[in-house]
Amino acid sequence: MDTDSTAVAETEPDASAGTSPDDSASGIVIESRNLSKIYRDFWGRKKVHALKSLDIEVRPGEIFGLLGPNGSGKSTTIKLILGLLFPSSGRVLVFDKDASETSKNERIGYLPEESYLYKFLTAEETLDFYGRLFDMSGAARRKRVDELIRLVGLQGAKHRQLREYSKGMTRRVGLAQALINDPDLILLDEPTTGLDPIGTREMKDLILALRDQGKTVLLCSHQLADVQDVCDRVAILHQGELKELGRVSDLLKVQDVTEVHAEGLTEEAKNEIAEVIRRHGGSVKSIDNPTATMEDLFLNIVRESEARPGARRVSGSAPSEPSSDTQANESGNDTEAGQ
Ligand SMILES: Nc1ncnc2c1ncn2[C@@H]1O[C@H](COP(=O)(O)OP(=O)(O)OP(=O)(O)O)[C@@H](O)[C@H]1O
Ligand SMILES: [Mg+2]
Repeated sequence: MDTDSTAVAETEPDASAGTSPDDSASGIVIESRNLSKIYRDFWGRKKVHALKSLDIEVRPGEIFGLLGPNGSGKSTTIKLILGLLFPSSGRVLVFDKDASETSKNERIGYLPEESYLYKFLTAEETLDFYGRLFDMSGAARRKRVDELIRLVGLQGAKHRQLREYSKGMTRRVGLAQALINDPDLILLDEPTTGLDPIGTREMKDLILALRDQGKTVLLCSHQLADVQDVCDRVAILHQGELKELGRVSDLLKVQDVTEVHAEGLTEEAKNEIAEVIRRHGGSVKSIDNPTATMEDLFLNIVRESEARPGARRVSGSAPSEPSSDTQANESGNDTEAGQ
């Protein structure tokens, strides 16, 4: 780095910098400058301009989202950060080192878009294998593998071969593998792909837990709700170009609209409030009950079903008692259960 601000940072380390003692002098974990990637064909002819002059900075301890439609350059950016691809122009620095320096990879965990894992190994053997690649001792490996299997919720399936795993289970092994070396920076390419809503929620909680441990996470996704739930800042790409960059809370704030949440208001009180708003020159858009998300609804139903198997919830109400449905089925009654 050659700027004045960096010189200051070098003499006075930023307290908010990452947890490792040798964290980058600039206090920035990933910095891309004018980063471009052109894929060329066999004869060197330009095929696709996948990334155009990308400038982003990812700071220690944040969850940074790369957002964009299919083909917008998200995976290309991640591969450039990892040094798996070389830029056509510009640079990317990770922990202040050029992305082509392989030593930085010891501090990085990577969940690829599609994990290429050995199908005939169990989850335990898979993680043990990756632990060996990082030269971990036998005891350290066993401890770490155990921790990770618990973390991703695969205790019940750890002795099964990966070829028997569902898509979501494979994704979980992929994440565990990405965390084997207890990395400071975690790159997640579409982490929620193939996960059901429960798995998605768990993955999001896990990502938030990683941030709480002081890790830096960069993830890319086109699942907008997931990004909104976990990311501190996002960059939005379209056709390889950066279109927007900022804090999620700032980007999503609707200006000039005021939201008030209140409980226990009577109709009369609501009318009065509307009147006050009009008197002050405002216009009332709606005074209504807020809606929950589909995710909340789904997770509540699954939790209730686990707590009270057999009960059926009729929309808007508490779940019905299990007894009648269960009895109907058990007695061979052929009317549809719960109707
Ligand atoms: N190895 C490659 N050779 C040629 N073109 C490529 C290659 N990899 C990616 N591309 C092209 O680069 C562009 C960006 O691809 P990239 O995989 O980075 O997109 P993405 O944002 O990750 O998309 P998705 O959401 O579908 O995963 C696309 O037009 C793609 O076709
Ligand atoms: Mg991709």
